[in-house]
Amino acid sequence: MNSPPAHLGVLAELLAAAMDPSAAGGDHAAIYVERVAVRWLMGLVGYPTDGSMGILVSGGSMASLTCLAAARHRLALRHGWNDRQDGMTGDRPSLVVYLSSEAHTTLHKAVELLGLGTRCLRVIPVDADFRIDIDALRTAITVDRAAGLLPFCVAASAGTVATGAIDRFDLLADLCVAEDLWLHVDGAYGAVGILDPDRSDRYAGMDRADSLAIDPHKWLSVPVECGCAIVRDGALLRDTFSLVPSYVRTEEGRGIGGLPWYSEYGFQQSRGFRALKLWMALQHAGRDGYARIVSRHNAQARTLAGLIDAAPDLERLAPVELSIVCFRYRPAGMPMDDERLDGLNKAIMEEIQSSGDAFVTQASIGGRFSLRANIIHYGTTDDDLQVLIDAVRAVGGRLATASKGER
Ligand SMILES: Cc1ncc(COP(=O)(O)O)c(C=O)c1O
Repeated sequence: MNSPPAHLGVLAELLAAAMDPSAAGGDHAAIYVERVAVRWLMGLVGYPTDGSMGILVSGGSMASLTCLAAARHRLALRHGWNDRQDGMTGDRPSLVVYLSSEAHTTLHKAVELLGLGTRCLRVIPVDADFRIDIDALRTAITVDRAAGLLPFCVAASAGTVATGAIDRFDLLADLCVAEDLWLHVDGAYGAVGILDPDRSDRYAGMDRADSLAIDPHKWLSVPVECGCAIVRDGALLRDTFSLVPSYVRTEEGRGIGGLPWYSEYGFQQSRGFRALKLWMALQHAGRDGYARIVSRHNAQARTLAGLIDAAPDLERLAPVELSIVCFRYRPAGMPMDDERLDGLNKAIMEEIQSSGDAFVTQASIGGRFSLRANIIHYGTTDDDLQVLIDAVRAVGGRLATASKGER
């Protein structure tokens, strides 16, 4: 998921370092710029801004951790328990978090760090399109409630890391309302895919999530590190993290308090001026610019899939939802079992990675080793897609022939 840096983002890093403010809070530029940039980001993906709060963090991992901390705090408030004072101690039912088998491991890390323990995780299977299976999710919730556990959160994906699958948010939001669960959306990579008019319908209901993680340092090409945690109930986020006694808290828009103290809405006290690179990148590309880039990448992924489908020795392993294509080399006229194909494709990936001609990573699709092309470079051309195909076929053909000779 590494995109190249937006040119203005590079300049912004220099300027931010020269100014070197701490964006903990206060009445200075970094705070105003963060507030604006984060609101623009919410607007970009169609998330409601009124009452919501967003804070820039290092990346998607910290964003989801921040959001899930708020989810845990809301649950505690509703059940009359002081999580900030008592932590996870005390005699109460185990909390349960639901996510799909395609969800990013960062969500597993977050539940570990929040003291919930991975035993509280229910990994729900996916459907043929790699989206969380809603019936299986519903059943798991029922089973857990019957066992006296406390379901509290569903962590959905807006673009999974392996295939770019987008969960069905409207159905999930309905379920979460009915079951009184927090709906978190990990949109680190794919939330901005909503900008593609050919894909925007897939995101129906994302605006109903209780929290959303977005990584501008992925598809928006803002230089690393730049992630964003967004929580629908901004006051709740403040209650989750603020350590300022309530009698010295300031009200937004009043007196010297003015703008929010970001250190009250997240874990960090001193904070860098991450907002400048996001603000400048958004100013430069604009909504239309990003919509063009995202749509072009998605179209290129479909073109790449077409090239793969047309090649006799390539096999596509997953539907193309956004800008990710999963496939493998399978030599024509040379039958191989899955184990040998896994080894062959791993060797192909390693050779291509070190060749410098193209870059593919790996994914496990139904237990099979897959090559994974993720188009998030704003400079990628259609010719580059052909370079990748030619490289995989050339390396694959050579390695397959060599392995035949060895047997
Ligand atoms: C879907 C998804 N979620 C979360 C993450 C973690 O984000 P970060 O590496 O910015 O912490 C990634 C990273 O690739 C991702 O693809």
